[in-house]
Amino acid sequence: MNDNIDKSVLGLHLPTDPRWADIAGMNIEDILVDHAYCEQKAASSCISLIVTYPDKEELVEMLTPVVSEEWSHFEMVIEQLKKRGMTLGKMRKDEYVAALAKKIRKGGSREDQLVEKLLMNALIEARSCERFKMLHKNIEDKELSEFYYQLMISEAGHYRNFLELAKKYNSEEKVMKRWQELLNEEAEIIKNLEIRSDRMH
Ligand SMILES: [Fe+2]
Ligand SMILES: [Fe+2]
Repeated sequence: MNDNIDKSVLGLHLPTDPRWADIAGMNIEDILVDHAYCEQKAASSCISLIVTYPDKEELVEMLTPVVSEEWSHFEMVIEQLKKRGMTLGKMRKDEYVAALAKKIRKGGSREDQLVEKLLMNALIEARSCERFKMLHKNIEDKELSEFYYQLMISEAGHYRNFLELAKKYNSEEKVMKRWQELLNEEAEIIKNLEIRSDRMH
């Protein structure tokens, strides 16, 4: 699974600059704090989808356990901070997600909006998965390296959940066309984003 999770599986158009893993690995406290909030936002995003689309049975069924998983990831990150004598700290500005949100099309039908949101979630999962893989491979701390391996597997599953759901609410052809457009936009965002040691993205 490890080496299968790469650009071709996740579809990402631009790999993360390898310098990020080096500087992130030297700044574990900031990375863990930013990471904790990524997990919180992932759980909140699933809750928001469930309460906005309670009539979509498959969505409710697929995303309800994902909320628990994301929240358990949050708990695990808190545990890693605690073990190192660190605390959660304040939430940081998430420039990556803010830039992605601007690329989401407004308007259209309720289903169109849903597909946009699902694809945005899929993008964040794919990029997170790629970054966890980089941390797994580069981080010297054995426990954290293993931790990031487990999360990489879990986020890859979520990425597939979101894409699968998107295809239920619009034709596969339209969804995949839009997915490719968003992958291009995401690559452009990553290209222009400053490489920071204190951000997961
Ligand atoms: Fe997660
Ligand atoms: Fe996830």
